[in-house]
Amino acid sequence: MSTARNIFPRSAKPELLGQTVVVIGGSAGIGLETARRARTEGARLILTGRNSERLQRVASELNALNTAAFDANDSAPLEHFFRDLPTTIDHVMVTAGQPHYGRMLDMEFEQARRALDTHLLLTLQVARIAAPKVRPGGTLLFMGARRPPPRHRSRDRVDSHRCTPCLIANLALELAPVRVNLIAAGFVDTPLSAKLPRR
Ligand SMILES: NC(=O)c1ccc[n+]([C@@H]2O[C@H](COP(=O)([O-])OP(=O)(O)OC[C@H]3O[C@@H](n4cnc5c(N)ncnc54)[C@H](OP(=O)(O)O)[C@@H]3O)[C@@H](O)[C@H]2O)c1
Repeated sequence: MSTARNIFPRSAKPELLGQTVVVIGGSAGIGLETARRARTEGARLILTGRNSERLQRVASELNALNTAAFDANDSAPLEHFFRDLPTTIDHVMVTAGQPHYGRMLDMEFEQARRALDTHLLLTLQVARIAAPKVRPGGTLLFMGARRPPPRHRSRDRVDSHRCTPCLIANLALELAPVRVNLIAAGFVDTPLSAKLPRR
């Protein structure tokens, strides 16, 4: 592992000094930029993604404490990952996954199952296994998507992210004092959005 770089400005008071941040999907896009920002604020980083080469590149750039390459929708490695963490953690952000577009009733059943796996079941699974490792007052942070204004809504495009707010609200009640939040993002320029059809 490379030597830590002094990457936050000297005058700034780092807000996450001594805290550990886990990003599930931290090797690109929103997760990577969040990890960069957290590192700038003094956090120790633990990053995951599926592509181990890309993950290692990012880990070396950000001097991550640890990395693990696995598919977050695969519950066994996800569970091992959290169980084997060498430390308690302060914040977990989950950016793994992508939206599934289509009229729900027109989706193949397997496609609908994958959409539910990616958003609802992954959220539930992370909450269940990560929360005991998170110190009180720490955070579980998930990604959703902002509902586009009516003029940009198309009747044949339903984003599976829209199912998550209710689950997040319930988890927040059940896991307090660990905080559980959902970010409903608008368009963010990332490797994922570059591949998606324009809405
Ligand atoms: N970009 C936007 O405009 C936008 C807007 C609203 C919501 N969102 C949501 O925000 C989240 C992040 O989006 P993004 O644009 O940052 O995506 P991205 O550029 O594709 O980055 C996703 C990150 O997650 C990892 N990842 C993806 N699927 C994974 C899986 N199954 N298991 C483990 N790691 C996985 C990727 O690495 P590997 O590929 O190596 O696994 C990568 O590090 C997504 O859920 C997306 O739907 C995005």
